[in-house]
Amino acid sequence: MDALEALRTRRSVRTYEERPVSKEDLETLVDCGRLAATARNAQPWEFIVVTEEDGLRGLAKLADNGKFIADAAACIGVFCEDSDYYLEDGCAATQNILVAARALGLASCWVAGDKKPYAEKVCALLGVPAGYKLVSLIALGYSSETPNPVKRPLEDVIHWQHFTGA
Ligand SMILES: Cc1cc2nc3c(=O)[nH]c(=O)nc-3n(C[C@H](O)[C@H](O)[C@H](O)COP(=O)(O)O)c2cc1C
Repeated sequence: MDALEALRTRRSVRTYEERPVSKEDLETLVDCGRLAATARNAQPWEFIVVTEEDGLRGLAKLADNGKFIADAAACIGVFCEDSDYYLEDGCAATQNILVAARALGLASCWVAGDKKPYAEKVCALLGVPAGYKLVSLIALGYSSETPNPVKRPLEDVIHWQHFTGA
């Protein structure tokens, strides 16, 4: 699958089969995350790959809109050292991982982290040192679900030279 197809067909998927994701694929995902654009080339990120049931269940318990993490094959926590652009950098890395997952035939869903009341508890659960912020939790697995949420059409969102049609 080429990059454009992966970008165009990626969707958030929240049900997963009981099939593990290989270590090699998980390493590929983190590799794609670490290569994301990052302000001033700061690369403030750290990625925690959780595959054990206890850890997945613990994360699911904390994330109020991420209960499905309990059924995922893996979850990657994206953390960034607190810095001027930690959120933009961590989001860029997260999106890279979602698109790479699609390219590998994996289902994924971004689960909110930054600003959530449970963010510090997630850090504590995973042993993250002080000074780091949770940006996202990425649930991963194989799935036959193919969600098709409504997307705003291109002609509605594209503007040439100046903002038109408001
Ligand atoms: C910052 C951010 C936080 C999100 N948090 C959650 C979440 O906590 N739980 C969830 O099920 N989906 C979450 N999502 C996924 C969105 O619901 C999803 O991207 C949106 O509905 C569009 O669907 P799509 O990803 O299939 O295009 C989040 C997405 C973003 C970008």
